[in-house]
Amino acid sequence: MKINTIGNPVAGCMRWGKWGAGFNTAGYRNIIEQCLAADIRSFDHADIYGDYTTEEEFGAALKEDKTLRSQLKIITKCGIKMLAENRPQHKIKSYNTGKKHILQSVENSLDNFGTDYIDVLLIHRPDPLLNPAEVAEAIQLLQQQGKVLAFGVSNFLPHQVNMLKQFVDISYNQMEVSIIALNAFTNGVLDNCLQHDITPMAWAPLGGGILTDDTHPNFRSINTVANQLAEKYATGVNEILLAFLNTHPSGILPVIGTTKIERLIQAKKAADLRLTREDWFMLLKAATGEDVA
Ligand SMILES: NC(=O)c1ccc[n+]([C@@H]2O[C@H](COP(=O)([O-])OP(=O)(O)OC[C@H]3O[C@@H](n4cnc5c(N)ncnc54)[C@H](OP(=O)(O)O)[C@@H]3O)[C@@H](O)[C@H]2O)c1
Repeated sequence: MKINTIGNPVAGCMRWGKWGAGFNTAGYRNIIEQCLAADIRSFDHADIYGDYTTEEEFGAALKEDKTLRSQLKIITKCGIKMLAENRPQHKIKSYNTGKKHILQSVENSLDNFGTDYIDVLLIHRPDPLLNPAEVAEAIQLLQQQGKVLAFGVSNFLPHQVNMLKQFVDISYNQMEVSIIALNAFTNGVLDNCLQHDITPMAWAPLGGGILTDDTHPNFRSINTVANQLAEKYATGVNEILLAFLNTHPSGILPVIGTTKIERLIQAKKAADLRLTREDWFMLLKAATGEDVA
């Protein structure tokens, strides 16, 4: 059994900078410190967030208070090449999982965060040109150098995970899964995690705030059941939606994309909440509109 050092929940930082709240350094420090005070210690990034600016902004907070780094875990990703003003050499949005690109991206991330190690490095998306031997060479080198502690993938299907894990150890797979994105429950992705002791992380675990989006077709039915269960479990509706994930035996770690500390603290409260089987299936029915076969 692998020891998973990433706690539940993970704070997703994608919307903390240019792609959302636009925190300044004091804003980053504030939310980081409040997360740590609430025992939320893992922070999810990618090289591309904020058009390649969010890692550096988060890092500015770590550089201001040097005691922070050792209290938290950094997850970051590489492999997507985006069109951005600060990447004029990129001519088309594309993927690069070549050795040189991975090594360079990790060096940039280390620099951005002002650290000498990344706790978890993920390949952001499956790359049709992925050469597993090259990925393995890069990751093994980074691990030998102590620059990357653990390795994983994101948005990989089981056959893609299985192929790559012939070459390099995979500890995490980060995927979209929530009450409105149910595929991982049935397409083999979570089964594959269970089979190979890979820890799943869920991005958009609250469906980007489904309970506040009354334009979603299942908004009403999900809300009704989530409210009933919230009353039954004496908690909130968001906690119920996270418990829907936490109840799965694979140990899904939700990556919460909020920019608000109170919502992260809510998510922390859900970490130990499990639904009964019947309650879990009631939520599933609310989302799909039908009983299971
Ligand atoms: N690996 C990948 O390909 C991938 C893709 C997308 C995202 N991610 C990661 O996953 C994280 C989460 O993704 P996400 O932001 O799309 O999804 P999310 O956590 O489901 O949604 C966050 C959004 O929902 C809103 N929201 C409304 N009520 C909320 C509540 N009670 N709790 C939390 N959020 C609430 C938030 O607004 P407020 O800020 O106002 O709370 C924010 O705009 C990202 O930060 C990123 O780290 C990874």
